[in-house]
Amino acid sequence: MSLNTITINQRMDKFDAHHSVWLFGYGSLIFKADFPYIERRPASIANWARRFWQGSHDHRGTEAAPGRVVTLVPAPGALCAGMAYLITPEVFAHLDHREKNGYLRLATDIRFDDGDTVEGLVYIATEDNAAFLGAATERDIARQIASASGPSGRNRDYLLDLAHALRELGQDDAHVFAIERHLADFAK
Ligand code: BEZ
Repeated sequence: MSLNTITINQRMDKFDAHHSVWLFGYGSLIFKADFPYIERRPASIANWARRFWQGSHDHRGTEAAPGRVVTLVPAPGALCAGMAYLITPEVFAHLDHREKNGYLRLATDIRFDDGDTVEGLVYIATEDNAAFLGAATERDIARQIASASGPSGRNRDYLLDLAHALRELGQDDAHVFAIERHLADFAK
């Protein structure tokens, strides 16, 4: 798949006629919403797991030394917890540009913590995108994150901010917290 996903995402017009759309955030969107939103609510989506398997050469790393950021991978029976934002469709142009390094919009059922559900959107970087790095041990992921840095800041800060935000939501994420523990062994 082409590295730049903006054109593909613009063809995803399912919600264009809607006045507002729920967007599920599971990564930086949990701790950094750099867009206007109407409302936000803790939520989860089923059958996906958060993994630091997507390479980042434009935000938390460089072409020469990519960082690692999260994407979602299929995980039957799993629940991925995050934050849902009610936004107007115009906000997608901003997110399509920000996340052009491999992330595609996907329609999904979003379940709020009070049990209500709604159909909304999530951005996912699938394994066929050019920046996908895939699985590695959590220690190796931590080692790579420890030394990576890019235009959006240090990769370690992305990981630590995400772990902090998940704790604030009262969520456990064994993958994220294991990488966070390993990170402490690598120099700042
Ligand atoms: C998120 O934080 O949910 C997110 C991750 C990657 C791309 C767009 C959003």
